[in-house]
Amino acid sequence: MQMRISTDPLTESNCYILEESGGCVVIDPNDSQAPLRIITENGWTPELILLTHEHCDHMAGLDTLRDRWPEARVVVSRVCNEGIQNKRLNMSMIMEVYLYFSGHPGCHYDPFVCRPVEECYDGDFSITWRGHRFRFVPLPGHTPGSVGIFMDDNVFFSGDYLLPDREVVLRLPGGSEEDYARVTVPFLQRLPDGIQVRPGHGAPFTLHNTEEYRWELEHFERVDSRQKN
Ligand SMILES: [Fe+2]
Repeated sequence: MQMRISTDPLTESNCYILEESGGCVVIDPNDSQAPLRIITENGWTPELILLTHEHCDHMAGLDTLRDRWPEARVVVSRVCNEGIQNKRLNMSMIMEVYLYFSGHPGCHYDPFVCRPVEECYDGDFSITWRGHRFRFVPLPGHTPGSVGIFMDDNVFFSGDYLLPDREVVLRLPGGSEEDYARVTVPFLQRLPDGIQVRPGHGAPFTLHNTEEYRWELEHFERVDSRQKN
């Protein structure tokens, strides 16, 4: 299997394309053009499309891929499916403001929604693709529909958690510090040492599940306030 990463220059979100024998899995089609171009230039066929969460910078290319490959299987959490159909919950309605404060003043961003997805899951869920197991674990906090995606137990697509050099964002529409602390932090603290993390923004890395790592997660509010001071 080979992995390609397509990073959107504006939002810096990562789209992961995993190819095997001409078929591919697309995780977080972040843009309507770049993932499509990579896939068509290589002559690949998207067979599976997955989302880590409902934010627009992780699914802006979803309907473009579905239009081009209508037979591709799309699998998302039920809450994520609701979010992608809502301009507020998918953040596209406030993306111009968000980008303004992220160093992109004057940037134009049209609000949009995606069509509903037919195959949705609740709770902990697994599927198999070409012998690879994908397991989805609900991780609310950043958004209510956020999940972490394991591939074969040694790779973890973390969505907008575990972002290198960035604090987790919990104050956008649907965000919840309580859910993050109650559900997601304990889960992230138990990730196995040495797992390969593929974050939604920033470079892939190997997780070292040390005392310091667990402490930082547990005391995220103190980390948060430290960074603001
Ligand atoms: Fe996000």
